Amino acid sequence: MSAARPFFGGNWKMHKGPDEARAFLHAFAERHPPREDRTVVLFPPAIALPALVGAAADRPDVEVGVQDVHQEREGAHTGAISASMAAEAGARWGLAGHSERRREFGDDDERVARKVDRLLEAGVAPVLCVGETLEQRDAGRLQEVLHRQVSAVVERLSDRDRRELVIAYEPVWAIGTGRTASPEDAAAAHELVRKDLAAWIGDAAEAVPIIYGGSVKPANAGELLTMPGVDGALVGGASLDPEAFASICAVVTA
Ligand code: PGA
Repeated sequence: MSAARPFFGGNWKMHKGPDEARAFLHAFAERHPPREDRTVVLFPPAIALPALVGAAADRPDVEVGVQDVHQEREGAHTGAISASMAAEAGARWGLAGHSERRREFGDDDERVARKVDRLLEAGVAPVLCVGETLEQRDAGRLQEVLHRQVSAVVERLSDRDRRELVIAYEPVWAIGTGRTASPEDAAAAHELVRKDLAAWIGDAAEAVPIIYGGSVKPANAGELLTMPGVDGALVGGASLDPEAFASICAVVTA
């Protein structure tokens, strides 16, 4: 941990429509009593977002976010949604730069930076996802890749907006593969990201949550989250199960 408040995100990806989203919320709420010492955010598919916001109306401690938005404010972009639409539907948070978007949809650093701009101007707090492929890690390029992905976004922001960010370190080779970075590898990568951030905002970087993602499960969340500088988790597969996600959200953080 650092000085940041722990952040637990559940990224459902292309799972759960409106009915399943509501059912999840009820089951999760029973298992996860409200607590003020952490931030819990669910990222449903956009089509289930209003249903989830409605279901969570009496649980303000469970927030809702959008998985992706378009880099333009509006226009002829069939199938896309804008940051302001997501905000209107109740999204308080928005992912940008998830590796699946980078890989499947061609989101490059420039586009990711523009998405972060759109989220901020819509009043939606951005969660910037960064992380290296196995090939890049094996070639000794971890630091360079993280620096490039973080700088592309951070250099365009005001100091105030830099402090609003959450950064998710998600090694691409650990996402959905069952392979997790070792707690030491995760802590080392988080330290690199925080140093990059500190170059812009100094000590305030300590309060920016840098969270880990990649095959986080109830069984490994505890050891990851007690590592220095690991301020929470972005959970994919295990966040689909209310019981598993509740148990991750309950882990004791350092
Ligand atoms: P995973 O996904 O937990 O299924 O590995 C993490 C993510 O992509 O955010």
